[in-house]
Amino acid sequence: MSDQSAVVKAAPKGIYVAGEWRDASGGGSFAVEDPGTGKPLCEVADGQADDARSALDAAVDAQADWAATPPRERAEILRRAWQLMTDRADDLALLMTLEMGKSRAESKSEVTYAAEFFRWFSEEAVRIEGRYAQNPAGGSRLLTMKQPVGPCLLITPWNFPLAMGTRKIGPAIAAGCTMIVKPAQLTPLSMLQLTDVLAEAGLPPGVLNVVPSSSAAKTVGPLMSDPRLRKVSFTGSTPVGKSLMEQASKNLLRVSMELGGNAPFLVFGDADIDAAVEGAVVAKMRNNGESCVAANRFHVAGEVAVEFTARLAERLGAMKVGHGAEEGTQVGPLIDADQRDKVGELVDDAVGKGARVVTGGSAVEGDGYFFTPTVLSNVPREARILTEEVFGPVAPVTAFGSEEEALALANNTEFGLVAYVFTQDLRRALRVAEGLQTGMVGLNTGLVSNAAAPFGGVKASGFGREGGTEGIEEYLSTKYVAVSLS
Ligand code: SIN
Repeated sequence: MSDQSAVVKAAPKGIYVAGEWRDASGGGSFAVEDPGTGKPLCEVADGQADDARSALDAAVDAQADWAATPPRERAEILRRAWQLMTDRADDLALLMTLEMGKSRAESKSEVTYAAEFFRWFSEEAVRIEGRYAQNPAGGSRLLTMKQPVGPCLLITPWNFPLAMGTRKIGPAIAAGCTMIVKPAQLTPLSMLQLTDVLAEAGLPPGVLNVVPSSSAAKTVGPLMSDPRLRKVSFTGSTPVGKSLMEQASKNLLRVSMELGGNAPFLVFGDADIDAAVEGAVVAKMRNNGESCVAANRFHVAGEVAVEFTARLAERLGAMKVGHGAEEGTQVGPLIDADQRDKVGELVDDAVGKGARVVTGGSAVEGDGYFFTPTVLSNVPREARILTEEVFGPVAPVTAFGSEEEALALANNTEFGLVAYVFTQDLRRALRVAEGLQTGMVGLNTGLVSNAAAPFGGVKASGFGREGGTEGIEEYLSTKYVAVSLS
């Protein structure tokens, strides 16, 4: 048996409730596909409303004991899970590559990134603190304590099948919350494998329950209307986030939303062009461009635009496209035919409106959902690619004249997740960083993602922060006790 079929065979395929694997009620399943071949890999249990309800029952039953479990014990489970993920990184990465498409090197770095959330939150679990203060008016005391918010629903996307899970599961475990995870239909296997890792690390039954399903409406819907659920955390598109917000309002759930992006990448005339090109390759090509923090549009100062575009095209044009599991692959397939076709449409729209293809520009014929790394120059302002999230390996470049114009272009979007800025002028760097309407800024770097940093956006990119010292706050509520001393 090849390594590939062995990791797929070894991955759990069921629904995980109260510490046990089971079939879906009704016994149905759905297929998981390899986007590098377009062929099915295996079948996974297709969770239904009853399964989601059982998962919530288990989470509710486990909540009080879990909240009372000493923080050090919760921390050590996370630390063991970090170690297990690190020890098994190769197999976890291969499984991820097979279901999601990205190269093994990319998957390996996601496994490291994902595991890091467990290590980080193992260190945060023992630092949940309150306050003790004197009433300014004298006499009484003001005591505050932090308590877990209660059972959470965590809905994760297909583009980072492990890391988007661990950065919700890690703080939930650390804070003492129980949870139900609904992994993405397209990539459930990594999350199901992670579930086994957490069980092996000692997570008690009922704390984590996982319900894969081909229908979010069937599973998420009944949970959102159940008053026992106390929080929902979602990573995905802005329209789905808005719909979840509406559903969450009925039970006034705590909500964290990590939604779409349209990241501008600004290169000023005084930038170090080597660093800007390097940063652009990372910001654009990480995860095949299928990331909400991917640089979506490149705004480059007129005096360096030709040089920057040519050098970026040279780098992207030289990248090896292939099945993610093949040795040497740098760019894997897109997740499915729809995504590949949407990227093609955005390129065609830009070219139809006057953009020039400097490299790439089309899908790859044959099996799987490949698109060649592409650089477009002279992209007109009205091209859809400047306003819609690309989620693919395409870099549209436009030129700007002044700092004011660059900032106005960057902020001319409903989204506000991240922006990248390349300049060697410290005053400009700070001016622009302050002026950007985003939750994050990459200053002379194309990578902002870090378990120790608060990840999140503003405007239509959502709210709430994942990672950093802020990440655990999303899973805690503050209780205030007025203490009379008289
Ligand atoms: C995302 O694409 O949703 C997040 C990417 C990251 O954490 O780097």
